[in-house]
Amino acid sequence: MNDGIITVSLGDRSYDIFFGTGVYPLFQEWVTRFFRSTPVFVVTDRTVHSIYGDDLGKWLSGVPHDVLSLPPGEERKRWDAMQEIYSFLARKGAGRDSLIVALGGGVVGDLAGFAAATFLRGIPYVQIPTTLLAQVDSSVGGKTGFNLAEGKNLVGAFHQPRAVFIDPAFLLTLDERNLRAGMAEVVKCAFAGAPSLLESITACAASWKEMSGDSWISVIRGAVAFKASVVERDEREASVRRILNLGHTIGHALEQASGYRRLLHGEAVAMGLAWEAIFSRRHGATPPGLERRLIDLLLEMGFAIDDPSLPVTAIAAAIGMDKKRMVSDIDMPLLTGSGSCALKRIPVSLLREELPSIREELRVIAEERAWGAGKEKTHPPEKETPGEVPAGPDEAAPTISELERRVVLNPRDVDAMIALAEAYGRAGNPSGAWETIKEVLGQDPSSARAQRVAREIEREVKEALPEIGESTSPLLEEVVILEEGVFELRPADRWSGPDEDSGDAGDPGAGVPDIPPETSSAEAGALIRTVTMASIYWDQGRQEESIRIIDEILRRHPNDSRALAWREARLGKRAVGREKRLVSSLTAFLRKMTKEFGYDVPGHH
Ligand SMILES: NC(=O)c1ccc[n+]([C@@H]2O[C@H](COP(=O)([O-])OP(=O)(O)OC[C@H]3O[C@@H](n4cnc5c(N)ncnc54)[C@H](O)[C@@H]3O)[C@@H](O)[C@H]2O)c1
Repeated sequence: MNDGIITVSLGDRSYDIFFGTGVYPLFQEWVTRFFRSTPVFVVTDRTVHSIYGDDLGKWLSGVPHDVLSLPPGEERKRWDAMQEIYSFLARKGAGRDSLIVALGGGVVGDLAGFAAATFLRGIPYVQIPTTLLAQVDSSVGGKTGFNLAEGKNLVGAFHQPRAVFIDPAFLLTLDERNLRAGMAEVVKCAFAGAPSLLESITACAASWKEMSGDSWISVIRGAVAFKASVVERDEREASVRRILNLGHTIGHALEQASGYRRLLHGEAVAMGLAWEAIFSRRHGATPPGLERRLIDLLLEMGFAIDDPSLPVTAIAAAIGMDKKRMVSDIDMPLLTGSGSCALKRIPVSLLREELPSIREELRVIAEERAWGAGKEKTHPPEKETPGEVPAGPDEAAPTISELERRVVLNPRDVDAMIALAEAYGRAGNPSGAWETIKEVLGQDPSSARAQRVAREIEREVKEALPEIGESTSPLLEEVVILEEGVFELRPADRWSGPDEDSGDAGDPGAGVPDIPPETSSAEAGALIRTVTMASIYWDQGRQEESIRIIDEILRRHPNDSRALAWREARLGKRAVGREKRLVSSLTAFLRKMTKEFGYDVPGHH
């Protein structure tokens, strides 16, 4: 039952990690030995509680305890969950001698751990991790914390647990996606510094899901032993602990670019491992072939090595953000051998520049593999592949990679970004197109061309990805352009007129930016004129500006009914009055001339 103990040696903060299938008798013994007469407070989530609630009652029979069951999920790893834990502890009378038990995945572990670090200035806690990720990573090392709306893990504390109880039987109820996500951290440990673990996971790469309980314990133990040895050398991540970030520099960026929703942490780390291995080989740190070994292993295990719907611009923007702070260099672990890595200081700009080439290499690898596996041939493309943009008859259209390179080198190159968004759209990647054009609008909300492209993409996204389409970008929803460089945030009119390409420019008054479809980049900043804009100016008392807008609309579209109606409604009387005044003063002038100088003035004047 007990398959060995690993001790994390940290002086008076040292603790034991117990492993075993059916490890709960050890947990029982440990609790009754150290916390028999003091209350125990279990923090878990509803999913885990629904599966293991009864068992928990048995494990803690005879021990006074209370259970708090939180809603599950990363999106709940936030302040209100923390408050709930604090008030649970306060209501139930937790004292400094009480014990908190974190029963669950990394979310529960991080929350309960932070509560333990801070409640009454720190009380003891133990971890019973129930996901693979928590067993091999988050339950060991004492990092705790929660997310803010502004970013992930922005609030945290180091607080080592008093013990960790790891039982692979929990994995039997874990879904495959979460199980695989945990495996990414195992692969990371293996390549970062555990060569024997690397051998054993390579041996069972394709069949890792069918591992027996003993094999699981051996794999988990191998990863934990490595992590514990690193934590012992650098508890607070001042130096060597950063090698545990292998795959995380780009992994975090991918996770952030995915909005922390689409990708699980482990899935992003697996991709990050692949991307960083290629980067590291390109810069001579990784022996040729090793990066391919890593990537093949990930693919064998069923991981994706890229998510092409994440625009490279968003990934580039997220790289180098350290807890919301932009840094210019990062200490990045680079693979130096099978089971070894070294920290190198890397300029963020260099890493960003390489992203398009890395993505291109990964695309080729994935295609080769799919081809080799006899799967459906993915090229040459009937239509487009994510890497190639079909050129028009006379033009050599830049490839997606070329455009990606341009925008990564110059993230303010709005022309390239718009072209990239359009290229993603043509290549059947609406999500990438959507994210890219949103970024353009974020940078330059008053770009008429970006607005036009955004509306086209929005229509496509709504068809292709209803779930994204429903949550329309606030940029598109709310930016109302008054003139170049002048815009307001408020509900914008929606385009509902005929297709611009049909030759009928539609009714500009319906809120369509009044820009011809072939607007050049130089003209992209041209004024956007709509009847709604005119009305906004009119209501603001800026009559001259609004009349100028309507005049411009009518100059381009003399029969525009909405603009004509607008003009008549507001200027009809005024205009007529002004004309009458003009005629009568001219007549008076001519009469005077006739009288004084004898001119003959025709009556109809
Ligand atoms: N503190 C650290 O050092 C550290 C390290 C890595 C990751 N993390 C954090 O860990 C978190 C991710 O952890 P996670 O992947 O465990 O996610 P999680 O805690 O959200 O668990 C994933 C899902 O699995 C369910 N679940 C848990 N155990 C189960 C079981 N045995 N059977 C069935 N369902 C089960 C949960 O209810 C949840 O829905 C992130 O917040 C990340 O920041 C922390």
